[in-house]
Amino acid sequence: MALHEILIWPNPKLLEVSKPVNEINDDTRQLLNDLLETMYANDGVGLAAPQIGIHQRVLVVDIHSPDAERPSGEEPIRMINPEFLSREGELTWDEGCLSVPGESGEVTRASKVHLRYFDENGDECEIEAEGLTAVALQHEIDHLDGKLFVDYISSMKRARIRRRMKKRIQEKEKDT
Ligand code: NI
Repeated sequence: MALHEILIWPNPKLLEVSKPVNEINDDTRQLLNDLLETMYANDGVGLAAPQIGIHQRVLVVDIHSPDAERPSGEEPIRMINPEFLSREGELTWDEGCLSVPGESGEVTRASKVHLRYFDENGDECEIEAEGLTAVALQHEIDHLDGKLFVDYISSMKRARIRRRMKKRIQEKEKDT
Protein backbone atom coordinates (compact mmCIF):
# COMPACT_ATOMS: atom_id res chain seq x y z
CA MET A 1 0.00 0.00 0.00
CA ALA A 2 1.14 3.53 -0.59
CA LEU A 3 0.07 6.98 0.47
CA HIS A 4 -0.45 9.38 -2.38
CA GLU A 5 -0.40 13.14 -2.56
CA ILE A 6 -3.89 14.57 -3.05
CA LEU A 7 -4.16 17.19 -5.79
CA ILE A 8 -5.49 20.57 -4.67
CA TRP A 9 -8.13 22.47 -6.67
CA PRO A 10 -7.84 24.33 -9.06
CA ASN A 11 -5.23 21.86 -10.35
CA PRO A 12 -6.41 21.25 -13.96
CA LYS A 13 -5.98 17.48 -13.54
CA LEU A 14 -9.03 17.56 -11.27
CA LEU A 15 -11.15 18.89 -14.15
CA GLU A 16 -10.49 16.00 -16.55
CA VAL A 17 -13.06 13.28 -17.25
CA SER A 18 -11.77 9.86 -16.14
CA LYS A 19 -11.87 6.77 -18.37
CA PRO A 20 -13.68 3.53 -17.59
CA VAL A 21 -11.53 0.64 -16.40
CA ASN A 22 -11.34 -2.07 -19.11
CA GLU A 23 -9.73 -4.81 -17.09
CA ILE A 24 -9.92 -5.24 -13.32
CA ASN A 25 -6.58 -6.66 -12.17
CA ASP A 26 -3.98 -6.40 -9.38
CA ASP A 27 -3.19 -2.81 -10.40
CA THR A 28 -6.85 -1.89 -9.92
CA ARG A 29 -6.92 -3.58 -6.51
CA GLN A 30 -3.70 -1.78 -5.54
CA LEU A 31 -5.26 1.52 -6.62
CA LEU A 32 -8.35 0.85 -4.48
CA ASN A 33 -6.18 0.04 -1.44
CA ASP A 34 -4.02 3.12 -1.99
CA LEU A 35 -7.14 5.29 -2.25
CA LEU A 36 -8.51 3.89 1.02
CA GLU A 37 -5.20 4.33 2.83
CA THR A 38 -4.80 7.90 1.54
CA MET A 39 -8.42 8.72 2.44
CA TYR A 40 -8.09 7.39 6.01
CA ALA A 41 -4.76 9.20 6.50
CA ASN A 42 -6.54 12.45 5.66
CA ASP A 43 -9.74 11.75 7.65
CA GLY A 44 -11.91 11.74 4.53
CA VAL A 45 -15.13 9.83 3.84
CA GLY A 46 -14.45 9.38 0.12
CA LEU A 47 -11.69 9.64 -2.47
CA ALA A 48 -11.68 9.27 -6.25
CA ALA A 49 -8.70 8.20 -8.40
CA PRO A 50 -8.38 11.53 -10.29
CA GLN A 51 -7.71 13.22 -6.93
CA ILE A 52 -4.36 11.40 -6.90
CA GLY A 53 -3.83 12.10 -10.61
CA ILE A 54 -5.06 8.74 -11.95
CA HIS A 55 -7.83 9.22 -14.50
CA GLN A 56 -9.71 5.95 -14.06
CA ARG A 57 -13.33 5.57 -12.94
CA VAL A 58 -12.40 4.20 -9.53
CA LEU A 59 -13.46 5.51 -6.12
CA VAL A 60 -13.77 4.59 -2.46
CA VAL A 61 -16.27 5.69 0.19
CA ASP A 62 -16.33 4.87 3.89
CA ILE A 63 -18.35 6.99 6.30
CA HIS A 64 -16.89 5.09 9.27
CA SER A 65 -13.36 5.55 10.57
CA PRO A 66 -11.19 2.48 9.89
CA ASP A 67 -10.88 1.39 13.55
CA ALA A 68 -14.44 2.15 14.66
CA GLU A 69 -17.03 -0.52 15.16
CA ARG A 70 -19.35 -0.52 12.18
CA PRO A 71 -22.82 -1.88 11.56
CA SER A 72 -22.58 -5.32 9.95
CA GLY A 73 -22.51 -5.25 6.18
CA GLU A 74 -21.16 -1.69 6.08
CA GLU A 75 -17.74 -2.41 4.65
CA PRO A 76 -15.67 0.28 2.90
CA ILE A 77 -17.12 0.78 -0.59
CA ARG A 78 -14.67 0.02 -3.42
CA MET A 79 -16.23 1.02 -6.72
CA ILE A 80 -15.17 0.66 -10.35
CA ASN A 81 -17.10 2.13 -13.31
CA PRO A 82 -20.15 3.27 -11.28
CA GLU A 83 -23.42 4.13 -13.04
CA PHE A 84 -26.60 5.60 -11.61
CA LEU A 85 -29.69 3.44 -12.02
CA SER A 86 -31.88 5.94 -10.17
CA ARG A 87 -31.75 9.00 -7.97
CA GLU A 88 -34.59 10.30 -5.84
CA GLY A 89 -35.38 12.88 -3.19
CA GLU A 90 -33.32 15.88 -2.17
CA LEU A 91 -30.73 16.37 0.53
CA THR A 92 -28.65 19.47 1.22
CA TRP A 93 -25.30 18.83 2.88
CA ASP A 94 -22.41 21.12 3.83
CA GLU A 95 -19.76 19.25 1.84
CA GLY A 96 -16.02 19.27 2.19
CA CYS A 97 -13.42 17.75 -0.13
CA LEU A 98 -9.85 16.55 0.41
CA SER A 99 -8.92 18.48 -2.76
CA VAL A 100 -10.29 21.70 -1.25
CA PRO A 101 -8.87 21.43 2.29
CA GLY A 102 -10.41 23.48 5.08
CA GLU A 103 -13.35 24.65 2.95
CA SER A 104 -16.96 23.59 2.61
CA GLY A 105 -20.11 24.50 0.74
CA GLU A 106 -23.76 23.51 0.67
CA VAL A 107 -24.77 21.24 -2.19
CA THR A 108 -28.24 19.80 -2.85
CA ARG A 109 -28.16 16.28 -4.25
CA ALA A 110 -30.43 13.22 -4.36
CA SER A 111 -31.15 11.77 -0.90
CA LYS A 112 -31.29 8.22 -2.20
CA VAL A 113 -29.32 6.60 -5.01
CA HIS A 114 -29.31 3.22 -6.71
CA LEU A 115 -26.03 2.36 -8.46
CA ARG A 116 -24.47 -0.38 -10.52
CA TYR A 117 -20.69 -0.88 -10.42
CA PHE A 118 -17.93 -3.47 -10.52
CA ASP A 119 -16.16 -4.55 -7.35
CA GLU A 120 -12.45 -5.34 -6.93
CA ASN A 121 -13.03 -8.93 -8.15
CA GLY A 122 -14.70 -7.78 -11.36
CA ASP A 123 -18.17 -8.81 -10.19
CA GLU A 124 -21.10 -6.61 -11.15
CA CYS A 125 -22.83 -5.25 -8.03
CA GLU A 126 -25.69 -2.96 -7.12
CA ILE A 127 -26.06 -0.73 -4.10
CA GLU A 128 -28.82 1.43 -2.68
CA ALA A 129 -27.63 4.21 -0.41
CA GLU A 130 -29.09 7.17 1.43
CA GLY A 131 -27.96 9.97 3.72
CA LEU A 132 -24.24 10.71 3.97
CA THR A 133 -23.28 7.61 1.96
CA ALA A 134 -25.52 8.76 -0.92
CA VAL A 135 -24.03 12.26 -0.73
CA ALA A 136 -20.45 10.91 -0.67
CA LEU A 137 -21.08 8.59 -3.64
CA GLN A 138 -22.52 11.42 -5.74
CA HIS A 139 -19.63 13.71 -4.73
CA GLU A 140 -17.02 11.09 -5.70
CA ILE A 141 -18.71 10.23 -9.00
CA ASP A 142 -18.64 13.96 -9.78
CA HIS A 143 -14.83 13.80 -9.41
CA LEU A 144 -14.77 11.14 -12.17
CA ASP A 145 -16.46 13.71 -14.42
CA GLY A 146 -14.11 16.52 -13.43
CA LYS A 147 -16.63 18.20 -11.11
CA LEU A 148 -16.16 19.42 -7.55
CA PHE A 149 -18.49 20.85 -4.90
CA VAL A 150 -17.17 24.33 -5.72
CA ASP A 151 -19.02 24.06 -9.06
CA TYR A 152 -22.33 24.22 -7.14
CA ILE A 153 -21.65 27.28 -4.95
CA SER A 154 -21.88 30.98 -5.76
CA SER A 155 -19.20 32.41 -8.02
CA MET A 156 -18.20 34.88 -5.27
CA LYS A 157 -17.62 32.15 -2.73
CA ARG A 158 -15.82 30.05 -5.35
CA ALA A 159 -13.47 32.97 -6.15
CA ARG A 160 -12.66 33.41 -2.44
CA ILE A 161 -11.88 29.71 -2.06
CA ARG A 162 -9.79 29.77 -5.25
CA ARG A 163 -7.63 32.60 -3.84
CA ARG A 164 -7.07 30.71 -0.59
CA MET A 165 -6.19 27.48 -2.41
CA LYS A 166 -3.75 29.25 -4.77
CA LYS A 167 -2.05 30.80 -1.76
CA ARG A 168 -1.84 27.39 -0.14
CA ILE A 169 -0.32 25.84 -3.28
CA GLN A 170 2.24 28.70 -3.52
CA GLU A 171 3.25 28.30 0.11
CA LYS A 172 3.70 24.59 -0.37
CA GLU A 173 5.91 25.18 -3.42
CA LYS A 174 8.04 27.60 -1.38
CA ASP A 175 8.56 24.96 1.32
CA THR A 176 9.81 22.29 -1.05
NI1 NI B 1 -14.02 15.59 -3.11
